[in-house]
Amino acid sequence: MTILGLETSCDETSASVVRDGRLVLSNIIASQADVHAPFGGVVPELAARKHIESVTFIVDEALRHAGIELDGIDAYAAANGPGLAGALLVGLNYAKALSFVYNKPLVGVNHIEGHVCANFLYEADKEGASDLTPPFLSLVVSGGHTLLIVVDDSDTYRIIGSTRDDAAGEAFDKVARVLGLPYPGGPEIDRLAENGLPDAVSFPRAKVEGLNFSFSGLKTAVLQFMSKGGGVPIQDVAASFRQAVVDVLVERAMAASEQEGLSRVALAGGVACNLGLRRKMAEACEKKGLSLFIPPPIYCTDNAAMIASRGYFMIQAGRADGLGLNAFPGRIR
Ligand code: KG4
Ligand code: ZN
Repeated sequence: MTILGLETSCDETSASVVRDGRLVLSNIIASQADVHAPFGGVVPELAARKHIESVTFIVDEALRHAGIELDGIDAYAAANGPGLAGALLVGLNYAKALSFVYNKPLVGVNHIEGHVCANFLYEADKEGASDLTPPFLSLVVSGGHTLLIVVDDSDTYRIIGSTRDDAAGEAFDKVARVLGLPYPGGPEIDRLAENGLPDAVSFPRAKVEGLNFSFSGLKTAVLQFMSKGGGVPIQDVAASFRQAVVDVLVERAMAASEQEGLSRVALAGGVACNLGLRRKMAEACEKKGLSLFIPPPIYCTDNAAMIASRGYFMIQAGRADGLGLNAFPGRIR
């Protein structure tokens, strides 16, 4: 089954052709980062308008790269939440129109579940098709979410931990702003942290109940430290902050895998690009004899291949949608 996926939930316009939920035939992404950078964050109205300008071209490119025509597509999958309402509607309505004209199934995909499915993707010309199968634990760390999810089977996702305030990526972006770094700040902090001392500043590791997270206190601690003059090189602040985030993410993920008796851990979301997180999670998993799965960076940040993959498993489970499908900006489940 060959699926065309569409992702327009935030500031990436993406279209992708994926076969049987795993083999990526194309994955085209147009980032709007330069449109939003002057504002220090995503401007919803601009995002929606930019998606409208780009979507036709991006879909055409995805089909061309896959070497396939629209009549060779078996179903359409579009992210329909969570995300920005106006932005989501662009991809969703595009998929609806194609589904109507070509009379092929349409499925609305939860963007977060899409992130998890990035771990299933592979490309024909690259080594290492992911052999990940449920059950497994997924840590989804993005600009909007920090979630521990148990994937029991290909269609059952259980949230067992979440953030009480800021998402991990949001904390990276906000701290980057405090440090005077450009948007999006996560990659900038990560780059600086590679040359900094992680124990230069002792930032707090929030302890919240259960398997939950909190990052707003840490963000405030960095803000206070800098407003008192800082006094250590910026790369040391970046490294100490990164270490504080990573320590909590790894500790909670290990506790979750133990609680649920899961031997496979899969990272997902933009923050899964973080080099500090990748290293520390690999060390912790090795120590506990767990298998760790991390998608290549291009499938960690927002992309339509992950949406097409999740769409495939939903259609297999008989969960296609009708043309009345709406967008759910605040949707988590
Ligand atoms: O998954 P994603 O592309 O979009 C959302 O669904 O939110 O994640 C974007 C987030 C941003 O907050 C960005 O700063 C963060 O992922 N990010 C990183 C890194 N690369 C991207 N955070 C830390 N280190 C990185 N290397
Ligand atoms: Zn995302």
